Parts: sequence; structure tokens; C-alpha cells
Amino acid sequence: MTTAIVAPGRPLHGRLIVPGDKSISHRAVMLGGIARGETVVRNFLPSDDCRRTVAALRAMGRTIGELEIDGRPALRITGDDGVLREPDDVVDCGNSGTTLRLLTGLVAGRPMCTVLTGDASLRRRPMARVVDPLRAMGAQIVGREEGRYAPLAVSGRRLKGAVTRLPMASAQVKSALLLAGVSAEGRTTVIEPSRSRDHTERMLQAFGVAVRVEEHTVSLDGPALLTATDVDVPGDLSSAAFLIAAALLVPGSEIVIERVGVNPTRTGLLDVLEAMGAPVRLDNRREVCGEPVADVVVRAAPLRGVRVAGQLIPRLIDEFPILCVLAACAEGETVIDEAQELRVKESDRIRVMVEQLGRMGVAIEERPAGVRIVGPQRIRPGTADSRGDHRVAMAMAIAALRADGPSTMADVECVATSFPGFFPLLEMAQA
Ligand code: S3P
Repeated sequence: MTTAIVAPGRPLHGRLIVPGDKSISHRAVMLGGIARGETVVRNFLPSDDCRRTVAALRAMGRTIGELEIDGRPALRITGDDGVLREPDDVVDCGNSGTTLRLLTGLVAGRPMCTVLTGDASLRRRPMARVVDPLRAMGAQIVGREEGRYAPLAVSGRRLKGAVTRLPMASAQVKSALLLAGVSAEGRTTVIEPSRSRDHTERMLQAFGVAVRVEEHTVSLDGPALLTATDVDVPGDLSSAAFLIAAALLVPGSEIVIERVGVNPTRTGLLDVLEAMGAPVRLDNRREVCGEPVADVVVRAAPLRGVRVAGQLIPRLIDEFPILCVLAACAEGETVIDEAQELRVKESDRIRVMVEQLGRMGVAIEERPAGVRIVGPQRIRPGTADSRGDHRVAMAMAIAALRADGPSTMADVECVATSFPGFFPLLEMAQA
């Protein structure tokens, strides 16, 4: 188990670049893999999760070359005719829910048998949310506990488009259904209670598929053909969030994070930071391959508590761990509510953040669908354990910057799930 020692924070300075967006990298590999022609993916995120998607598409017959463009990692995907072949072994999705859930939809309507599994954390995560609506489209899927948990075995069948009303806002479920819809007969419609990240919709359009979006309803007509196009992946705002928090919390800091994705379905944290009084500014706004991008400018400042619930939650779902750290350092009460989805992420993030911040002297009240935190609280140097969850590991490392002595972070190799190079970059920013 790898540990990291985090010293009390020194001011962060400079222009920083965070790795490519995880959600967009996964989708670029999948859509490139089923498109006709060659797709080049610039600024691909070479994290453990995204590598699982690359390995899966290779096992399904795609040729995917790894290269460097402008000093950043890139991929060349040869889609040929866009036809996948049956993998000759089980596809191991590791820790990646996005890989497993989206691939379940991607293969459900193709004439092949695919068995998908993952690590212990992924095998505990709910799969009925994708399996049930896919079955309603005609998919044949078996799995543990009647398909509620992976491993899942998908025996490809002719699918029929259907209307699915999701009980929760989930981009993974929505995307699985849209990817199934690509090979289904007729119209596939997904209705969400509130809008989750829309990278799949945007990228399908870039690959030439007509996608209709009206409020919380997305639909497409199948079968649809994808035509290869190049993708330039913006920096991941969910990774930038840790550096933004570090700059806010360490007095004297001022940084610019260049070329970060600021898709409005992902910027809930920026809205919350504004309400907390944080001086965060977006400069140089532009669009890259259908995704809004900007440079994020942030400097240290005192924060005030805030209430976070409702439609904001899906727009900052991955930022909960770092938001707990910010709230602990803010003046007054922060309440995060209606975030029950956090219980079924890579870990039960509500329980684990309460537990781990508790080990560093921070009192948080655990609630069924969120937390209540009254700050500012003193963060004591100590030992925190990620419990194998990459975002917990990084959030606790940022908390440790506020302690008045060195802290030990246990089980940090999981940061490679989404942010390879996190610790060296954090060091470099403080040099
Ligand atoms: C993701 C969707 C979200 C998010 C995850 C990535 C995606 O999950 O938490 O990190 O790429 O579609 P849910 O769809 O389960 O909310």
C-alpha cells in the first residue's frame, strides 16, 4: 500500500495544467471504436480507468495506438467499419463504473457475447439501473443477484428503442441507453429528473448522430452510423477542483489552471464557490470540439458556509469530498443534502469523508443523503486512509495542507484512477 506524507501547505503559484477529462476520454475511445474511419484523441487521460476502456475496445478488435501530440498523451483509433468483434476473454473494467456501465449499453445490441467485471468496489456497485432499462429494450443480460451486480454477461440481441424515465440523474445510465440506442431499431428516449453531464450527447453529435435534447429529455433514432472525427479533450474540472481548493485554502496562493472544461453540467462547484465568496474567475472562454473550455484563475480567500441540494447535486457530484474540506474551513454552516447517490460511488463517500475528516479532528454530522458541517474547524495533522477511493485520497491531501504539521495519507495509489501525477503537481505548485 503506497502512502504519501503531506506537509503543511506553502502558497501555490503559477500556470498549471491538469490532465484530460476522464468522462470525455472514455467516450472518445468508445465512440472512436464504433465509428467508421480513424479518430485521433488529443490530450487523452492515461489514467487507470480510461486505460480499462482502451483495453476493452482493443479486446473487441479495435487498433488503438498511443502517441504524443504537443507533448500531451494522445490516441489513434482505427475504427475501420465500426464493427466490434467478440472479445475472447472476460473484460475487466477495474475500478471504472463508466467503463462497465457504458460498455454494457454499447455491446447490448451487437451480435456478440461480452462478460464484464471489475474490482471489489465495482462489483459492489448497483447495476440494475442499467440492466433493467436495457432489458426493456430487448437486451439479454445475466449477472449476480439477477443482474443487480457485476460480473454481467451480455448476449447481444436486436434491440428496440424505448422511452426510459430514470429515477436518478445519472450520466452513466443515460449514456449506456444512448449507446444501446445507436444499434437499436427506432427511437431511444431518456428522461432524467435533472440534467446530468451531457458529454455523450455532445460527442455523438460530433460523430454525426442527430441527438435531440429538450430540457431533461434526450433522444436519438437508431440504427445510427458514426463517422470518425478528431477529439481534443479539455482538462478535467473534477481534477482541477483539488488545486482550486488548495489555492483557496493556503494563504498567499494565486494560480491559473489552463484549458479546463467548463461544461455547465459540470460546473456546480464553481457556482457553490461563488456563493461561498471565493474569488474564482474564468478567463479566455472558448469552445473546443463542442465543449466549453476556459482558464480558471483563483486566489486564497476566506469562505462562508452554504447550502447545496437539488439540481446542483448532479452538477458537482464528484466534487463532494473536496467540498467537505472547503466547508470545514469556511465560516458558518454548510449543509449538503439530496446527494444519496454518493452512497454508491467508488466508496460510500458520505460515510468515508465523515470518518476520515474525523481522524484529522474535523467534526461532521452524517445525514442520510449528505452532511452538515460547521466551520471553521482546526484540521489536526494525522493519518487518513483513502479506502481505495481516488477522490477521497486527493481531498484528504488538500485537507492536510491546512494542518500545522505533516500528515500521512494511506492507500494513495488509487489517485491514478483519475489524476496521475497529482502529488508531483501539487508539490510543483508550492515550489
Ligand atoms: C460519470 C458519471 C457520474 C460520475 C462519474 C463519471 C460519467 O456517475 O460520478 O465519476 O462519466 O458518465 P453517475 O452517472 O453514476 O452519476
